[in-house]
Amino acid sequence: MKFFLDSANINEIEEIASLGLLDGVTTNPSLVAKENGQKDFNKIIKKICKIVKGPVSAEVISTKYENMIKEAEILSKIDKNVVIKLPMTKDGIKATSYLSKKKIPVNVTLIFSASQALLAAKAGAAYVSPFVGRLDDISSNGINLISDLSEIFLNYGFHTEILVASIRNPIHIIESAKLGADVATLPYSVLIQLFNHPLTDIGIEKFLKDWSNK
Ligand code: G3P
Repeated sequence: MKFFLDSANINEIEEIASLGLLDGVTTNPSLVAKENGQKDFNKIIKKICKIVKGPVSAEVISTKYENMIKEAEILSKIDKNVVIKLPMTKDGIKATSYLSKKKIPVNVTLIFSASQALLAAKAGAAYVSPFVGRLDDISSNGINLISDLSEIFLNYGFHTEILVASIRNPIHIIESAKLGADVATLPYSVLIQLFNHPLTDIGIEKFLKDWSNK
């Protein structure tokens, strides 16, 4: 399973990259807007691409096909690893078909159903981003969607990768991994949670105590 960081925070990205755990990064307008003083979107993406030697998703702001293509063409020139993030709309899918044919990789975001993911895969998306946390938030099981997508993509041999997004806790990651999801994009806080187990802390404490008493 590939680990992407769902962040536009340079310090977080540098820290996780230094652990040797970072396969890529996903950003979105909300994450970029959170980074005070980092108003130049293209500059942030360029900076991130320098740190991460893997796919970096950059989302378009336009909602109309023609403008999406214009934005995508500018973004894709920033670095060879830029993946264009497009919303799951008719215009987004039309732009996905166009860009995919031009070999520009697309991540279709805001996926909440198997039918939406099927459309994105048929349009040639490199990634689909099902939002598991936001589904859980409305009492709909997000992990069930990952299970459906794994089954459907396998049935037809789609090359589209399942990029699990809107992850809120380690259980989302483990359940997605059990289902063979290709990528998990993790908020920094959830990635750090993966390290923790109280028995590990107790074990270290005991080893150190025994050693100092020898
Ligand atoms: O990058 C998109 C997604 O991961 C957003 O997550 O927590 O805002 O639902 P969240």
